[in-house]
Amino acid sequence: MTNNTKDIKQEILTLKTLIKQWNYEYHVLDTPTVTDDIYDSTYKRLVNLETQYPQFLTTDSPTQTVGGKTNSTLPKIIHQTPMLSLANAFNYQDLIKFDQKIKKTLSQNKIQYVCELKIDGLSIAVTYINGKLKTGATRGDGTSGEDITNNILTIHNIPHTLPTNINLEVRGEVYLSKEEFKRINTSQQQQNQPVFANPRNAAAGTIRQLDTTIVNSRNLNAFLYYYVNAANDNIKTHHQALQTLQTYGFNVNDQYQLCSNIDEVWTYVQKFEQLRINLPYEIDGIVIKLNDLSSYDLLGRTNKAPKWAIAYKFPAVTSVTKLLDIFPTVGRTGKITYNAKLEPVLIAGTIVTFATLHNSDYITTRDLRINDLVTVKKAGDIIPEVIAALIEQRTTKSIAFTKATNCPDCHSVLEQVPPEVDQFCINSDCKERILKSLIHFCSRDAMDIMGLNEKILQRFLELKWIKTISDIYKLVNLRQEILSLARFGEKSFTNLATNILNSKQNSLERLLFSLGIRHVGQKTAVVLAKKYLTLENIMQASYADLASTNDIGTIIATSLIDYFANPINIQLINNLQALNLNFYYLGKQHSQLLAGKTFVLTGTLSKSRNEFVTLLDNYGAKITNTISNNTSYLIVGENPGNKLTQAQKLNVKIINEEQLQIILKEVSKNG
Ligand code: IVH
Repeated sequence: MTNNTKDIKQEILTLKTLIKQWNYEYHVLDTPTVTDDIYDSTYKRLVNLETQYPQFLTTDSPTQTVGGKTNSTLPKIIHQTPMLSLANAFNYQDLIKFDQKIKKTLSQNKIQYVCELKIDGLSIAVTYINGKLKTGATRGDGTSGEDITNNILTIHNIPHTLPTNINLEVRGEVYLSKEEFKRINTSQQQQNQPVFANPRNAAAGTIRQLDTTIVNSRNLNAFLYYYVNAANDNIKTHHQALQTLQTYGFNVNDQYQLCSNIDEVWTYVQKFEQLRINLPYEIDGIVIKLNDLSSYDLLGRTNKAPKWAIAYKFPAVTSVTKLLDIFPTVGRTGKITYNAKLEPVLIAGTIVTFATLHNSDYITTRDLRINDLVTVKKAGDIIPEVIAALIEQRTTKSIAFTKATNCPDCHSVLEQVPPEVDQFCINSDCKERILKSLIHFCSRDAMDIMGLNEKILQRFLELKWIKTISDIYKLVNLRQEILSLARFGEKSFTNLATNILNSKQNSLERLLFSLGIRHVGQKTAVVLAKKYLTLENIMQASYADLASTNDIGTIIATSLIDYFANPINIQLINNLQALNLNFYYLGKQHSQLLAGKTFVLTGTLSKSRNEFVTLLDNYGAKITNTISNNTSYLIVGENPGNKLTQAQKLNVKIINEEQLQIILKEVSKNG
């Protein structure tokens, strides 16, 4: 694998882990930690990478499965027809592609679509036997969901009995109106219970309640939008299916519209992007479904979604709310960030109470004042942002912003060097700065010291067991003291000590990133470590040499020179060296571990020949084309050629890719 594909593989792995975690938080815990926009863009990035690099696509990828796992406290119901999700569209172009694909597969030029509002709730499946409601279930993982029949029965617009004695499965969305959501949250607050982040989570939390009295007290609603296997009941179109559901007494959202081309679909999308704010319930997009049911089978599905429908997701939105306060915070580099405390406001389905104001310039150029009404944007960023004040609506209560002169934590005088817009706390003893740099140093992408989380670090700081980064490595000598703390047993101390000691062996790029040098992120740290190989070399590098390095440039070079010119930083580095931390780049440490070995490839393998050349070159091994007595290993893939017979004749070791990985791991371990 080349370095590039290695990075891609790593990125795919990271994205998969992230999305799985988010799915779990969203579907199982009902507590999302990221906005839909971030989820969608991350998901899209994963889909793109997997499409471009199919060799890294695995069946356990969240792109290949649906939703989250079910909550184990409720019994399960198997879905007779899998409950799929929908592919997403984010712009007009995506809709055009969707339309073109359908037309190509069906060899048709004229196609009708049904547009519906995408209700932001929780999907449910309800079955009827002989016209009587039999079961109600959540989607779960798409194959089986939770049995929520009792709670479904409390939803007044889901009929218990149908006007005909048919067997039917119908799917839809359980939701809470915006008004009901507000009421529930007020009541939660009054009872000192956690408030729900958005109506979707409140609906999900309610429908999975074991206590039906709670469910009864919250006015859940449902829109039904899918008649499962409608074609079997002689229904020809989705439009007709929706009408049939209406005649059966189901609550079908009446904004659905038949469109005869994708431009009509786009008009509908734009119309509801404007109108969504006025709807009494939350929607997060538009669902577009092919009208003709007889084409559904022909189009088929992916593992995750049918190909006859798509969900257009609305982009980031803004809301207006009151700016209650402006306050600065200090980060690990000493940089001051100004923050806005807001009157809680629902934006794109999530309650926002804080937003960033960046720096003082940002506030003054926009003339933002406390008590102003402000527009807040939630975009592809976790942190919402205040964009502007509604100056015409300003009252006499507005309070002009005053720029901080002192650090909010240590109160030392802030520094700002024009043309820099940022102010800095330059007191290296500032507690908040120290805490944040310790958190960064121990974090997963940095030195990865599991067990030293924010809370513990804060505690150790308070106890004065740590004052600076190098003190982390002295914690291993504080066994008695640490064991005296509540919730610290022998085992957790041993684990902590092992993690601390192991981190001493980290490769240079991790250490470099951990130091928290301004502008030196993870990628820059790798570039520097690969080029200079030791920390000493980096410290001695000239500005010109640093600045002329690919991907480095003048800003990073200046920052590095400044950092290493500061005696406090030099003291830290000396301390770390005295504690025996590794200062070398280990990425190529294994370079000669397979020196002199020759490999031959045969059959279809997961990587290209070039990638194998690069991979084995890292270990000092070569790839040749023909089997001889000098060949160390033959790597076989699917459908091997006659090199396999030759290798067998010459007693050459024959391995597959998995065995190669084991060999590489083994030699790296021993090397
Ligand atoms: S159709 C096989 N129609 O959006 C097709 N889904 O992102 C099933 N949703 O899982 C879905 N409103 O929970 C459909 N009018 C609508 C919808 C809708 C909301 C939800 C549903 C689905 C998710 C996909």
